[in-house]
Parts: sequence; structure tokens; C-alpha cells
Amino acid sequence: MTTQKPLKIVETVLRDGHQSLAATRMRTSDMVPVLEQLDEIGYFALEAWGGATFDSCLRFLDEDPWERLRILKKHLKKTPISMLLRGQNVLGYNHYADDVVETFVQRMVENGIGLVRIFDALNDVRNLEVAMRAAKKAGAHVQGAIVYTISPYHTTENFLQVARDLVELGADSVCIKDMAGLLAPYTAYDLVQTIKQKLGVVVDVHSHYTSGMASMTYLKSMEAGADIVDCALSPFALGTSQPATEALVATLEGHPRETGIDKEKLYPIADHFRKVKKDLAETFKLNTAIDIDTKVLSFQIPGGMLSNFLNQLKQQGKADKYPELIEELPRVRAEIGYPPLVTPTSQIVGSMAAFNVILGRYKVVPQEIKDLARGAYGRTPAPIQDVMKEVIAGQKVITHRPADDIPAQMETLTKKLAEKGYPNATVEDVLSYALFPEVALKFFAANRSAAAAE
Ligand code: CO
Repeated sequence: MTTQKPLKIVETVLRDGHQSLAATRMRTSDMVPVLEQLDEIGYFALEAWGGATFDSCLRFLDEDPWERLRILKKHLKKTPISMLLRGQNVLGYNHYADDVVETFVQRMVENGIGLVRIFDALNDVRNLEVAMRAAKKAGAHVQGAIVYTISPYHTTENFLQVARDLVELGADSVCIKDMAGLLAPYTAYDLVQTIKQKLGVVVDVHSHYTSGMASMTYLKSMEAGADIVDCALSPFALGTSQPATEALVATLEGHPRETGIDKEKLYPIADHFRKVKKDLAETFKLNTAIDIDTKVLSFQIPGGMLSNFLNQLKQQGKADKYPELIEELPRVRAEIGYPPLVTPTSQIVGSMAAFNVILGRYKVVPQEIKDLARGAYGRTPAPIQDVMKEVIAGQKVITHRPADDIPAQMETLTKKLAEKGYPNATVEDVLSYALFPEVALKFFAANRSAAAAE
């Protein structure tokens, strides 16, 4: 069942592009000059919020992420603003109470989000229910995401089941989220075709260039009937980011599924972002020239993780342990039930593997790994192995939806923030505080008048 409709594009230059290549440091002022032009292109959506941008605004850029969203919305009158939400983790790293998730989603839609892409690191759809329902209720386009990974437990059938669950939960579209660039072209063809045939739902493919396959993966996905692909304008494309928008548009010119986008209109916007990238690299001392790393195809470890590992080991004078670590990581991942490696599981599994090679296997075990093993983040894709059962001996195993154990938090947080000197804090400020308490307080101290915070 192939469609002949134009292939649509989600432009990621304002979120994933700079998150992947410039440590999420793009500022609102870097975006504003070209927003009206971007709005005229005819994108399916402009991904511009969520992921790591919220944290980065508060932590590194001295910006209010909510204010950024309102500014974006003011300039983007036609094109929906899309964002990436970590299900019950919202934009943080823990599970939050349902009322935090619901309020956050409601406020972000009210402030300008039109499309919400929601994923769970374990593909445990129970962790998506509340966010999806809230986004639906707020009137946004709800995109349920399947986190793509490779393991003996991750088959087309398994991913189809996740897609089916997402559709049953009310997803308007389904995203295949390939954060590590592991989705091979013909696998993508099979997966997209299966989902289209069985469910008929709108499919969006989101891949990264990390392994060098993403353009081919998009082309095969398109041939299999994918409706949408995610691309970044060339200065923020390739490397560990998405395929380039201009190249994809040109590829399909004259084809029955041509995008309808005029590539001539993209060039001046790309020129702007080329300058922005140079400026960000200088201002924040970044290496924005991140090569693709084909080793990811063998190790199945996200590219960014490999370089982080090497840096951490170097800092501790243990660079010689790197080859061991590369072998240890997949072993730990298997023992803990093959979670996809994406925030926060990538950090949790990654640090366990590092501890194992430096200190001996499971000699020191962070609580996060125990929590992941005992179901506190949700169901692991496969059962945990015996060695992991020993690690969590005596700990409470959780088989229900983890957030069922978290009492409502909004009222307590509002009170706490009042005690800290912000009795008139906005709901948005309370939400920032909920996700990143210390970082938010530091931001408020510099940007809000205490006791009269509006
Ligand atoms: Co991505």
C-alpha cells in the first residue's frame, strides 16, 4: 500500500539539529530572525521545543523555556510547533506524578505546542498513557513514538505491537524514533510497510546520520509508504543529526511524492544557520564537526555515548579500559532486559558498565540500575537475567505502572516554591521547578524578584 501523496518534512533545526551538533546551545535570538521565513516553507511541523532544550535554556542559556515557546508561537502562525516529551519523565530524568504530567502538557499546548511526540525509553506504553490523554484533551496532534533498537527481543512484530498500542491510546500518528541511527534501509522498509498495512496510521520516521545510513533509510521508508520524515537544514544536518532538508527536497523533485517545498527558499535560511553554528562553536567552545561513526553498526551504542565514555575514562586515567567497556555495555544491557539506549536508560546502563570495568562486575551498583531492574521505570523489553536478580535481591519488584506510586505533586511544589520566596509563582515556574529544582531556583534568583515573582 504505497501512497502517492507528497512526502512531508518535520524540520528539526530548532531542536534536534542543535541538540545533536551544538550541545543544545542555540538561543532564541539565533532563531527569531528566520522564523517567519521558516513558517512559509510548508513543513509538516517545526520541531523547536522539548528534548534537552528545556534543561539547556534554564541551565546554560539563562532563558525561560516557556518564554521561548511564546516567542516562537508569536512568529510561527501557520506551521505547528512540535516537541519531544519523555512520557512520564516529562522533560526530566525521573518519573513525575500524573498531575505534573497533565499540567505540563496542558500548559505547553496552551503556550503554543501543536504537535507532541511522546516516547518512553522502555517502550512501556503505560508510561505514555497520561501524557497522551492530556495532549489529546488539550487539542494537540498526538504522535506516539516507538523507540527503535536492535536486540534479540526487538522484532518487527514486537514494534508493530507497540504501534498498535499507541494507536489504541489515540495516537494521531506514529513515529519510528531511531535515535542512534541503527535503522537500516531495508529493515525500515519492512517496518514501515508492516505498520502501514496493518494499522493504516500516519508514519513519521525520525533517524540520525550517526552510522551514515539515514538518507538511504528515509528513501526506503518513503517507498514503503512513510508519510513524514524528519530533516534538519544542512548546517545542522548530518554527523549525529538528521539528513539534510535541502538534499531530501532535491531528491524527490519530479518524483510522484515530491515534497512541494521550494529549495531556493531554504538556502537563505540555511545561510543564516551556518553563521549561527559558527557563532555557537566560538561562544560555547564546541566541536560542531562531529563525524559519523560507523562502529555504531557493530556496537549498537549511540555515537555520542562512545565519545563520552572515552572522555570519562581519559579523565580517570583509564583510557586503556575503553575496549573492555565497549564489550561490557552490551553485556549489561542484555542482563537488564535489553532496554533501548536513550535518555535516561543510556546513562544508567552506561555508568553501570563503566563501574563494572573499573571496579569489578557489580561491586558498586547505583540505585538507578536497581530501579531499572526492579521495574521502577516500567517493564524492561526482556526479562532480567539471573545476575541482575541477585543485584536487586531484597528490593521491591514493581509490576504496575510506576507512577501509580507517586502521589500528586503540584500543590506541594507550589508550597515549596512559596517557601523559597516565590509565593506568586506562575504555574509554568512551578513546572520548571518540578523538573529541575536547583537549576530553576538559580534561574529565578537571577530573573525573578523574590516574594513578588509574577
Ligand atoms: Co533525535
